[in-house]
Amino acid sequence: MQEFRGKTAVVTGAGSGIGRALSLAFAAEGMHVALLDLDDGDLAGTRALIEESSPDVEAEAWTCDVSRATEVDATADAVFDRWGHVDVVCNNAGVFVGGVIWDRPVADFEFSFGANLWGILHGIRAFVPRMIAQGTEGHVVNTASVAGLFGAPFGGPYTISKFAAFAATETLANDLLASGSLIRASALCPGMITTNIIDSDRHRPDHLATQFTEDQQFVTDLLTQSVAGGMDPAEVAGKVIAGIRAEEFVIFTHDLYPDQLAARSEALAARRLPDLPDFP
Ligand SMILES: NC(=O)c1ccc[n+]([C@@H]2O[C@H](COP(=O)([O-])OP(=O)(O)OC[C@H]3O[C@@H](n4cnc5c(N)ncnc54)[C@H](O)[C@@H]3O)[C@@H](O)[C@H]2O)c1
Repeated sequence: MQEFRGKTAVVTGAGSGIGRALSLAFAAEGMHVALLDLDDGDLAGTRALIEESSPDVEAEAWTCDVSRATEVDATADAVFDRWGHVDVVCNNAGVFVGGVIWDRPVADFEFSFGANLWGILHGIRAFVPRMIAQGTEGHVVNTASVAGLFGAPFGGPYTISKFAAFAATETLANDLLASGSLIRASALCPGMITTNIIDSDRHRPDHLATQFTEDQQFVTDLLTQSVAGGMDPAEVAGKVIAGIRAEEFVIFTHDLYPDQLAARSEALAARRLPDLPDFP
């Protein structure tokens, strides 16, 4: 897909971080943007920024919990009613939940899988059939992570959800190709990006509340530093736009990951546990 102007983009997690930057970037390309997030106030903030920077496009916000199929389906209906077509979908909403795999309660896995995996599956099921039926070019970008390509300690609920997000994207891309669709799919695999991801519990529902433990504190301290010194989300959004145009299946944010991925594959082929990568 080369031409964006006049088309429609849907972005989940549009209230903050990478999702906000993607929304602004699509608007700057002349696209109408459907902004989906749990947080009304943050959605209003993104919408105001678009009105200021790209007054010629339409941006509309929908409060939507992507972990709930009924909410995503209803929002997809509203978006198709609003613009009649959808051309780009970024299933980007996500939360970080760390900790040692055997110590984490079920609720931590449910919270992480809800946004990071089910959010992507619900987004695919709600939008892709109607995008295929349009018979025009389009693109689905699912935000996985480098944590979905490399295993690491102390991040069980997050890492597992991101490997699954990557697998969902590879499956989607192959299903689209095999069925002759013009829609393409990409897995966005960011390294450290300066966003509010560390504060993911701000939207955790009460019924999934868990005790914050020492192993989580350790990984949170590490991540807080790395995320603070990470890449600007606006730069990530630029790479996503370029990645869609170039039909990249994996969109990397940092150049060192392809080499590290090759080393990982070699280790797996040699039946060894891969070395830990550097996460910049
Ligand atoms: N920041 C990083 O270093 C980094 C690295 C790799 C991958 N990612 C991924 O990038 C994506 C965006 O995260 P971010 O870093 O911009 O964090 P962020 O916290 O700044 O933004 C995430 C947004 O998703 C929304 N959200 C969370 N759960 C939701 C739900 N169930 N329904 C609807 N909206 C929901 C939040 O309200 C928030 O606005 C996530 O999938 C995250 O896992 C981030």
